[in-house]
Amino acid sequence: MIKTNEYGYRKLGASGIEVSPLGIGTNRWGSGQGSNRETIYKTFDAYLEAGLNFFDTAEVYTGTYSERVLGECLRRNRQNVVIATKFAPLPNRLSSHTLMDALDASLQRLGLETIDLYMVHWPFTLLNIEALMDEMALAVHRGKVRAVGVSNFNVEQMRRAHARLSHYEIPLAVNEVHYSLVHRQPEDNGVLEACQELDVALIAYRPLESGSIAHAVDLEVRNATVAPILLRQGRRLISSLQYPKNQEHLVTLRSTVDEVARAHGKTHSQVALNWLLQRDERIIPIPGATSPEHVTENAETLTWKLTPDEFAVINAASTPWK
Ligand SMILES: NC(=O)c1ccc[n+]([C@@H]2O[C@H](COP(=O)([O-])OP(=O)(O)OC[C@H]3O[C@@H](n4cnc5c(N)ncnc54)[C@H](OP(=O)(O)O)[C@@H]3O)[C@@H](O)[C@H]2O)c1
Repeated sequence: MIKTNEYGYRKLGASGIEVSPLGIGTNRWGSGQGSNRETIYKTFDAYLEAGLNFFDTAEVYTGTYSERVLGECLRRNRQNVVIATKFAPLPNRLSSHTLMDALDASLQRLGLETIDLYMVHWPFTLLNIEALMDEMALAVHRGKVRAVGVSNFNVEQMRRAHARLSHYEIPLAVNEVHYSLVHRQPEDNGVLEACQELDVALIAYRPLESGSIAHAVDLEVRNATVAPILLRQGRRLISSLQYPKNQEHLVTLRSTVDEVARAHGKTHSQVALNWLLQRDERIIPIPGATSPEHVTENAETLTWKLTPDEFAVINAASTPWK
């Protein structure tokens, strides 16, 4: 158990559900290092031992394996946890009624009777947002879902989901979007502001920019062209391309994060997660991890905070990514 939690618990909007301020992403449970079952069990246990309780999965992660192995973890070590999963509005799902079948399949894989938080994974679908929210309301009514959320929704789509759910007196609990030190679009596209206005939690996915904030800030500085990054960084390429062309910005951000990390004897990941946590109390970052060591390191983020000056200087250094 981490010694102190400087942040307390965070609300999933007005749903009445509270979660640890850091969740855990499971989209690699079942691939790479995450394909070792025993390692995943240990990762799960380490997360609970750290006093955290919020797991994020989806039916499409690792071809449903993520949900299945999370279900196994729950059966092995049942505790008071909050489970979020997502409905994928795939092109072959031509009716909003497919949501209920998908939900039943997720419940079965997870071994649960109720999902704490059920989200629509993305808005790019022929299915109508209002019809999907009607189906979500039915799922809540049937006791299969406690709280309803969306993911990757823009402000207008969020407002539509929120308005439709309000007909049933169900709050829109969360919008899960990409947000990190080097991806600050939720501040510019209005999503963070809409979350504040509508009392919706912002779940920040990819908060370590797929690990590049943890390991690769240095690498990006050394590799000034895209080709070596492509060869050496593989799946981190997309994140790398998001970096502004001006390498000076990257050097400044890296040295700022590094200086703060050194001052506290902490890591780049912890600085980046602390920045998100202090950016707004509605933000709940969900770093992905497939190792107990990463879980422990990330959980220790909650034992310390950036000073206001440190927050300001990091905020300024990452402004080019807004
Ligand atoms: N709603 C959506 O559309 C959507 C999209 C993408 C992701 N997500 C969710 O968001 C979660 C997080 O995103 P993500 O996993 O893509 O990216 P991420 O959290 O930014 O980065 C995960 C990567 O960082 C590494 N890592 C974690 N903690 C570390 C540490 N302390 N030091 C060094 N490396 C560390 C992990 O390594 P190990 O695996 O070796 O631990 C993994 O390679 C996903 O798991 C998923 O649940 C949602």
